[in-house]
Amino acid sequence: MKDGFGRTIDYMRISITDRCNLRCRYCMPYGIEPVAMQEILCFEEIEAAARCAASLGIRHLKVTGGEPLVRRGCCRLVKMLKQVPGIEKVTLTTNGVLLEEYLEQLLDAGIDGINVSLDTMDPKRYKDLTGRDCLASVLRALELAAAGVPSVKVNAVSLDLGEENWTDLVKLAERLPVDVRFIEIMPIGYGKEFPALDHRELLDKLKMLYPGLREDRSQHGFGPAVYYKIPGFRGSIGFISAIHGKFCSSCNRVRLTSQGYLKTCLCYEDGTDLRAVLREGWNTGEKEGHYCWPEGLRPDDAELQGRLRKAFEEALRKKPAAHCFEEPEKITEAGNMASIGG
Ligand code: 5AD
Ligand code: SF4
Repeated sequence: MKDGFGRTIDYMRISITDRCNLRCRYCMPYGIEPVAMQEILCFEEIEAAARCAASLGIRHLKVTGGEPLVRRGCCRLVKMLKQVPGIEKVTLTTNGVLLEEYLEQLLDAGIDGINVSLDTMDPKRYKDLTGRDCLASVLRALELAAAGVPSVKVNAVSLDLGEENWTDLVKLAERLPVDVRFIEIMPIGYGKEFPALDHRELLDKLKMLYPGLREDRSQHGFGPAVYYKIPGFRGSIGFISAIHGKFCSSCNRVRLTSQGYLKTCLCYEDGTDLRAVLREGWNTGEKEGHYCWPEGLRPDDAELQGRLRKAFEEALRKKPAAHCFEEPEKITEAGNMASIGG
């Protein structure tokens, strides 16, 4: 599927909950406003939206949050999405806290890749940054995942925590077959209060530390990261530099929030309310706190897919050309990263 600027859109991130078991300072230091379960899409609705997306050319789905593993049945959803015709890869982004517990089920479901968000290798800094003292279990889960999942990546938001902090993260890729990627912090929600470290400077320092470092042009995934190989390392080092290395001209993605809003760019509230389309005609179906289509009134599938398709295409036509993080007064997105899904 092409957007209004001719970009191929083949990747959709699906946030399945805003909730999280951590309190990262740049994301939700004070938690989030609770959302009633019936406000968020049920798995059947997510699956219907994914089928529509796949029919329009989406090939890769990323399940995200908040923390996706805090939503009951997350692994069952992964399995449902893996069965959607046309979907080639289903991957998950997690903070890793519950990963050890669910790894087996995720593998059973056929997960194709897991990204673990981890900003520091220092237990004290970890606790300070996330509010919980659980670095050891995240690292255990990471090692287990690296041994069993086809593709494992570590995502570290680049924060000013000192040089040994990011070099310790880099060394993870020496020890384990995982790519370690640094992400420039974006001015969304509390992220606005943190300066974006310039990755060009990190890269220069990395080149001094590892003179053998070379750009790695092999395909690593579906995103905008630029990768480097270090001799002797099992994984690569990646940089996702939304601020100092704007990559909007090759943007390939849309985002579905847990409340069913299809977002076409991180920076703006542009998009369309797919939940309104999914629930058109009735808005009261509710079972054990979850929304569900009222008994016997399941919408006709072909008709629903037709309506979803129209909504998707309309949103895609209007996908903005580029973010405006360099001009913060133009940002219209008022939500936080946990509801957008990263
Ligand atoms: N800028 C960049 N990345 C962010 N994340 C959360 N908030 C921000 C922000 N403002 C990251 C998380 C996780 C991913 C889903 O998004 O750390 O790695
Ligand atoms: Fe949770 Fe991720 Fe936000 Fe941290 S950044 S609080 S792990 S959703």
